[in-house]
Amino acid sequence: MRETMRPLVTAGRPLHPLPLRIMHWVNAVVMLVMITSGWGIYDDDVIIRGFHFGSFWRLGDWAAWSLNWHFAGMWFLAINGVAYLVYGVASGRFRTKLLPIRPAEVVRTVVDTLHFRIAHEDLTVYNAVQKLLYVIVILAGIAQVVTGLAIWKPVQFSGLVALMGGFQTARVLHFAGMAIIVGFLVVHVTLALLVPKTLLAMLSGGPRVGAQVSDKEELVR
Ligand code: HEM
Repeated sequence: MRETMRPLVTAGRPLHPLPLRIMHWVNAVVMLVMITSGWGIYDDDVIIRGFHFGSFWRLGDWAAWSLNWHFAGMWFLAINGVAYLVYGVASGRFRTKLLPIRPAEVVRTVVDTLHFRIAHEDLTVYNAVQKLLYVIVILAGIAQVVTGLAIWKPVQFSGLVALMGGFQTARVLHFAGMAIIVGFLVVHVTLALLVPKTLLAMLSGGPRVGAQVSDKEELVR
């Protein structure tokens, strides 16, 4: 049997590490609970006259049940969200994967997409539009928690309510945040289904990245 030496290669980490995948899927389930239970609460006292969501789309048979779902879900949303933000900053993921966002690249990606030239061969980099949408939805998620606090406890958070221009405005802002997140979700889920390998990567971890060749060698028989 021949023996040779070869450089020691460390395998690298999955593109989407396990903690990130757990937080992403917890968030996906909790967001659906928050959105559909929010529709149940909205239907009880609508903002846009004549516009209801209808029982098929609502979580909870009536407003009080929808409220229960919403109040239970908000803890998971907030705790999971804070964990994702801390992880994103501490691991450097936000800096390396979501930033920087260059306006010229956003324009180029939009033009390419309109000409059906969306390249998604390399899963390891997000294009400029993806980065922008992810940052927008992360900010929308934070805004939902803040506007939600204002309408949940308007007396305790009266300063926050005043900053937002009153209780009704805070409600409208909370509704607008929901609309942004739902709009994001329609595009996000459609793209994930159109490029299933991104979906598989968000489930399994995807390709390994950051493999390193060390100056040490290993013996191969
Ligand atoms: C069933 C629903 C969902 C599906 C199928 C889905 C699918 C995916 C996939 C496949 C990726 C990786 C994209 C890529 O590699 O190109 C991803 C990333 C991401 N998704 Fe979702 N997603 C869902 C729900 C959500 C929700 C509800 C949110 C937030 C409101 C969200 C926010 C994000 C963000 C911010 C990333 C980037 C994460 C990072 O790299 O740090 N997703 N999602």
